Amino acid sequence: MITDLQQALKRCSKPERVCMAVCYDEKQRRSNIITLGWKMWTSLKPRMLAFSIVPTRHSHNLLIKEKQCVIAWPGPDMVKGVMLCGTASGRSVDKFKETGWTPLPAQHVKAPLIEECVVNLECEITDTLTTGDHTLFVAAVLEGHVASDNRKILFTIKDELHFMHVGSDKGYKFGAFS
Ligand SMILES: Cc1cc2nc3c(=O)[nH]c(=O)nc-3n(C[C@H](O)[C@H](O)[C@H](O)COP(=O)(O)O)c2cc1C
Repeated sequence: MITDLQQALKRCSKPERVCMAVCYDEKQRRSNIITLGWKMWTSLKPRMLAFSIVPTRHSHNLLIKEKQCVIAWPGPDMVKGVMLCGTASGRSVDKFKETGWTPLPAQHVKAPLIEECVVNLECEITDTLTTGDHTLFVAAVLEGHVASDNRKILFTIKDELHFMHVGSDKGYKFGAFS
């Protein structure tokens, strides 16, 4: 056993399945998409989840304001767009336009579903908590939408040792897991 905090955290924090939060931007009259690795389920009944966002992100302000969003899980064919949504800011980039993805009206929230995604969950933010340099958003799932085919969900793994890699893109490793 070696005492090394950095290595210990690296080894236990991956693999990481990414999702995206779609947030309505009233000021720019469009919706924004942020890629998220840090998320978790928090309740079965009612179904709830939580995700962590750095306060400087554009999406952070939109979520604080609107208190709702769509959480969308991409397929393995969406890697390029997922990386764009995870590196560009919605302050200056229209991410639906740049990715070419299709916004579909949701039933309960202002932000749209992403048609190309495997799963879209309509969510209402019920709580926030400051946790160090991130804000934890807690959200109740209002409605769910799933692709009609059997496409698998994108799995992202940072390029590190000690776990299985499938495919690769820009320093992140991707693979499809059911
Ligand atoms: C694979 C991946 C995972 C990410 N996970 C998170 C995350 O969990 N929380 C976060 O605040 N930013 C995360 N980011 C960074 C944001 O997606 C990125 O800063 C984005 O450009 C913010 O967009 P916005 O300014 O339009 O909100 C991630 C980026 C990538 C590529």
